[in-house]
Amino acid sequence: MVTTSLKILTHPYQSVKNDGQDVIQGLTQNPKSLPPKYFYDDHGSELFEQICELPEYYPTRTEAWILSQYADEIAEITGACELVELGSGSSTKTLFLLDAYQKIASLCRYVPIDVSGGILKASVLKLQEKYPSFSIEGLVGTYEQALAKLESTSSPSRMIFFLGSSMGNFASQDSEDLLRRISQTLNPGDYFLLGIDLQKPEDILSAAYNDSQGVTAAFNLNMLSHLNWRFQGNFDPSFFTHQAIYNQADAQIEMYLHCHKSHWVSLEILDFKIFFEAGEKILTEISRKFDLAIMQKDLEKQGLKTLKIWTDPKQWFGLILCQA
Ligand code: AVI
Repeated sequence: MVTTSLKILTHPYQSVKNDGQDVIQGLTQNPKSLPPKYFYDDHGSELFEQICELPEYYPTRTEAWILSQYADEIAEITGACELVELGSGSSTKTLFLLDAYQKIASLCRYVPIDVSGGILKASVLKLQEKYPSFSIEGLVGTYEQALAKLESTSSPSRMIFFLGSSMGNFASQDSEDLLRRISQTLNPGDYFLLGIDLQKPEDILSAAYNDSQGVTAAFNLNMLSHLNWRFQGNFDPSFFTHQAIYNQADAQIEMYLHCHKSHWVSLEILDFKIFFEAGEKILTEISRKFDLAIMQKDLEKQGLKTLKIWTDPKQWFGLILCQA
């Protein structure tokens, strides 16, 4: 029977008593940092959708091009019955895959997972009209919560996919942990499809994270408004400016909020106060840029064997299909 549902797993921001401890931990470190998950309130998710449309932000359209060319082949190779998408957002690029699987009629269930309930609900409703032949079961939650839930459900043939190079927003150890969790959620013979942004000249990378319309700056600064709303804070975003630099040695973009006025900030709900020096920076995100050969080895270490790799003509972005 075909069904549509949206399950709210314990909400990532309201779940546990120690909600917000990661904010305190990040802001009491030297240098200060904040977890990138706080970008994604509903407004932040909308801003991210706008980033994906920017002329300078090549990853989304490059990955979409690869999917437009090779989704049929991916569907043919895997013939999966269940597709699980980590960080689905609006599921725009996923349409290439869903169309391809629809053609071969192998799919019984699509499970999009995202922390942003608003955007996930809208996309589940849109998709159920377009694809009446398989079930759509949205999960609102963190990857960790969703993978734990999936581990307890079985599927004849599952493909988990993680697009948009979101893996790049995880530090090396955290991405190793995530790959291990993904691998544990797959049965032998199941598939994993990973989209990664590849290393390229600095000017292209720098432009992608310092766009001329200032959307990335608004996305970065929105984190402070989100924290104000969520934890009754008094961050003044006008005391901060967006900064994105490419760290060549670590092959990663680093996004910062640069403070230009010394001041105190309090977050009432967390009963927490912190002083900012003029000139100090908060690290809000890393976006790692990958090497295909190294990534293949990392996947292999977690029992995920590469079957095929697709890239675009400029080799800016890679899609790796592997099997557990
Ligand atoms: C979601 N993630 C893959 C984006 C990236 O490129 O690292 C987030 C982003 N940050 C600024 N622009 C886009």
